[in-house]
Amino acid sequence: MPTSRVALAGATGNLGVPVLEALLGAGLSVTVLSRVGGNSSKLKQRSNLTIKYVDFNSTQSLASALQGIEVVVSCLATLAIGSQNPLIDASVAAGVKRFIPAEFGMDSLNPLCVHLPVCAPKAATQKYLEAKAQANPGFSWTGIANGLFLDWGLQVGFIIDTVRHTATLYSGGDIPFSTTTLADVARAVLGVIRNQDETADRLLYIHSTVTTQNKLIGYAKEKDGKTWRTTCKDTEDLRRERFGSLHNGHTMEAMDGFCVVAMFTPDYGCDFSTHLDNELVGVKGMDENDLRELVRGFVQ
Ligand SMILES: NC(=O)c1ccc[n+]([C@@H]2O[C@H](COP(=O)([O-])OP(=O)(O)OC[C@H]3O[C@@H](n4cnc5c(N)ncnc54)[C@H](OP(=O)(O)O)[C@@H]3O)[C@@H](O)[C@H]2O)c1
Repeated sequence: MPTSRVALAGATGNLGVPVLEALLGAGLSVTVLSRVGGNSSKLKQRSNLTIKYVDFNSTQSLASALQGIEVVVSCLATLAIGSQNPLIDASVAAGVKRFIPAEFGMDSLNPLCVHLPVCAPKAATQKYLEAKAQANPGFSWTGIANGLFLDWGLQVGFIIDTVRHTATLYSGGDIPFSTTTLADVARAVLGVIRNQDETADRLLYIHSTVTTQNKLIGYAKEKDGKTWRTTCKDTEDLRRERFGSLHNGHTMEAMDGFCVVAMFTPDYGCDFSTHLDNELVGVKGMDENDLRELVRGFVQ
């Protein structure tokens, strides 16, 4: 592998943990960038892992932590994604070659998605990266769109609730959406690091599978035969409600709602089947049996 020095921001999060394990498992040297007072002290020490505490608002603090780093991966929290510019500026200043921003969700090139407050900061970050890449020939970026996190979404009941056997079916529950396990997202990050020329300055589309809420409920029912309580919700109603709630701030509840709107409304383009980059970054994906087994594993 050509690159061996990677910095990872947000390494203690839902996505950061599996990404960190994949990077370390591939033999890369990883520098974790953590907030002062953040969660990184909980990480298990490893010989190829360094933890640096930084101020994510200070380009100077970040640039000194990034000396000698070739690739920066940002897995920062959803509520922090609007503030990646100092990290990008610091990466350019430190001579980083590739920046992978905290995207990891819907299609941030879709004109409807970019108007959602959960996606607008990601689209703005992309524009910022494009300008930096144009002005600095040694610097480039890659975004990853992976749809919903599949195993995370089943575990926390975001897609369907396999513990309570309940679900809110959006647009009837038969809308196909792209969805990716955290392990496959981590594989794609490694794939970008291994294939930097082919992945430069673009958004990649990956998924483990495309499915629907009703199919997932069907797999769960096959295991225990229980009856599910479902309610239906129109995504346009949800969109209006969540925009109406923004006077309380950009809460996680509002942001989660906007993710649901994008994933389960066909015009937002979150079925990536026709334009996948899986092969390029080494994501094999799942067949129907793999998916069935995964869902059954979450049914209690
Ligand atoms: N597609 C999906 O279904 C889906 C679902 C969830 C998230 N995502 C995306 O995946 C990426 C990572 O999200 P995540 O859920 O893994 O993040 P997370 O678990 O909420 O947080 C990740 C890490 O960010 C760091 N951080 C830095 N600034 C922070 C701040 N102001 N508030 C809280 N944490 C902060 C923390 O690490 P330290 O304490 O070490 O500093 C934290 O552990 C984001 O781009 C998000 O939008 C996608």
